[in-house]
Amino acid sequence: MIEGLRDKVVIVTGGGHGIGKAYCHGFAKAGSRVVIADIDAAAAERTAAEIGKDAGAQALAVHVDVSNEEATKRMAARAFERFGRIDVLINNAAIFSVVPMNRGKIETIDPQEWDRLMAVNLRGLFFCCRAVLPAMRKQKSGKIINVASGTVFAGSPGRIHYVTSKAATIGFTRTLAREVGDDNINVNCLAPGNTLSEENPTEQMIKFRESSVGLRSLKRIQVPQDVVGAMLFLASPLSDFMTGQTVNVDGGISFL
Ligand SMILES: NC(=O)c1ccc[n+]([C@@H]2O[C@H](COP(=O)([O-])OP(=O)(O)OC[C@H]3O[C@@H](n4cnc5c(N)ncnc54)[C@H](O)[C@@H]3O)[C@@H](O)[C@H]2O)c1
Repeated sequence: MIEGLRDKVVIVTGGGHGIGKAYCHGFAKAGSRVVIADIDAAAAERTAAEIGKDAGAQALAVHVDVSNEEATKRMAARAFERFGRIDVLINNAAIFSVVPMNRGKIETIDPQEWDRLMAVNLRGLFFCCRAVLPAMRKQKSGKIINVASGTVFAGSPGRIHYVTSKAATIGFTRTLAREVGDDNINVNCLAPGNTLSEENPTEQMIKFRESSVGLRSLKRIQVPQDVVGAMLFLASPLSDFMTGQTVNVDGGISFL
């Protein structure tokens, strides 16, 4: 059990499904108060209900489209009204799997899909940070963890819009870390490897996830739970002197 997360107020965007949902359970088990913010309102409610069964856990489901600035302000306001502070923001929501993307080569990417993906994966990051910073600056403490991807380090043939958005997330993290350090706010990045995060994966998806196994130092398929420990560490006081960093959790494919 990781120490120092009890009663912390943690917003997880995209907490209704996949790896985000695993983060929500991890924080709840550590005693945090968890705000599950997702464009899929029903999924956010389901995660909140599951967490509510854990002893003493507190959860709040919030419907949000992170690409809409007003919606992100409402998300932060609801978290603040319910719990009176915001300690941690996990920027995990993305166009990825539940909201699917074209995984094809550059010629096949529709410019409209490029724009929508940037609006969610990057502008969403920008809006969510702006929404929580007033509370964190006032508290003189806070932790923001952005989610990148191992595809940035290894390169990936296909979905160039997605990989570009995740590479930009690392530059965003480094810049914001320098802007908010004076207010004792840490900004770091977590990059998961190829993770079997789908609730009902197709055979084709399982094969794709398995294709990374041979590239790993630790030769097995990656599952959402594999990323949770590093996320809890980055949100906890154990990482208080780390900022602007990217932590790569991929079973040893890319060495930064
Ligand atoms: N699974 C992997 O292999 C992998 C690898 C590297 C990085 N990642 C990253 O990890 C994060 C989680 O991945 P996952 O596999 O759980 O993906 P996922 O598609 O299962 O989950 C993404 C979540 O974001 C939500 N979402 C989508 N658009 C939204 C919006 N506009 N506003 C609010 N919520 C929105 C979805 O409803 C979903 O709950 C993503 O940022 C993804 O890019 C995943």
